[in-house]
Amino acid sequence: MDAPDEIESEFGVPIPGQVVDPAQWAKTAIKKLPEPGPVDWNAIFGRPAPLVIDLGCGNGRHVLGSAWERRDLNHVGVDLLPVVLRYATRRGNQRGLTNLRFACCDGKNFVRRYLADRSVREMHIYHPQPFHNRREAWKRLLQPEFLADVARTLEPQGRLFLQTDNAPYWDYLRKTAPSFFEFEERDERWPDSPRTRREILASSRGLPIFRGVGVVREMAAEEARTLATKLPRPTFDAGKPQRELDDLERDS
Ligand SMILES: C[S@@+](CC[C@H](N)C(=O)[O-])C[C@H]1O[C@@H](n2cnc3c(N)ncnc32)[C@H](O)[C@@H]1O
Repeated sequence: MDAPDEIESEFGVPIPGQVVDPAQWAKTAIKKLPEPGPVDWNAIFGRPAPLVIDLGCGNGRHVLGSAWERRDLNHVGVDLLPVVLRYATRRGNQRGLTNLRFACCDGKNFVRRYLADRSVREMHIYHPQPFHNRREAWKRLLQPEFLADVARTLEPQGRLFLQTDNAPYWDYLRKTAPSFFEFEERDERWPDSPRTRREILASSRGLPIFRGVGVVREMAAEEARTLATKLPRPTFDAGKPQRELDDLERDS
């Protein structure tokens, strides 16, 4: 257990927030998502507040920092892997973040089943897995239908934040995302960069980081779904895997 005054860090970069007195620790893990969706997130948090989602949150660095800094927003971190969520929930609990929850779920399912129309203020997806083996390209999260579904869940003026260190994935996203979002690539770092563990690792190896943010376009869900069927699928060649980086990433 961390002493309350100990500053945790990874690769020399402090984890956002501070460990608080154990009497104030929170319970951030959602053991089971209520069925059937969509989830009433205001009921889960016990208060109405704008909703921020981090899909594929990994060890939770970004969503922890956002929840720590923006107490007036409800946050949910989602990942497929229980092992990375263990780090995320421990840190969220020990920081007493009652405005944060973590759910173990496939991102596509999560958006489709558990998020109501026009209910999300911000969706963050940082370094989605590129799946270097082309036979696994179908597993890539950011497919046209998925982007259409994200658009359905965003509030008017809601925003999608994207970031990757994989140039072919970025090339695909910068061409596809503008169908559903007023999308702008961002040359500079975010004011609070590095936002994620993968960003720290990729930057330390001199890899370029691609960033962008899109404001959702006004579009009927049916129209978005039809549009998605006409867009190219992410069948790009993602290049060689960065094995050392991928191994370090899993250690969280
Ligand atoms: C490259 S890591 C990035 C983690 C974190 N966002 C970061 O930037 O450090 C990709 C993460 O996405 C998760 N992931 C992969 N496919 C997913 C899916 N379909 N749904 C949810 N999470 C997924 C992985 O378990 C992993 O934690």
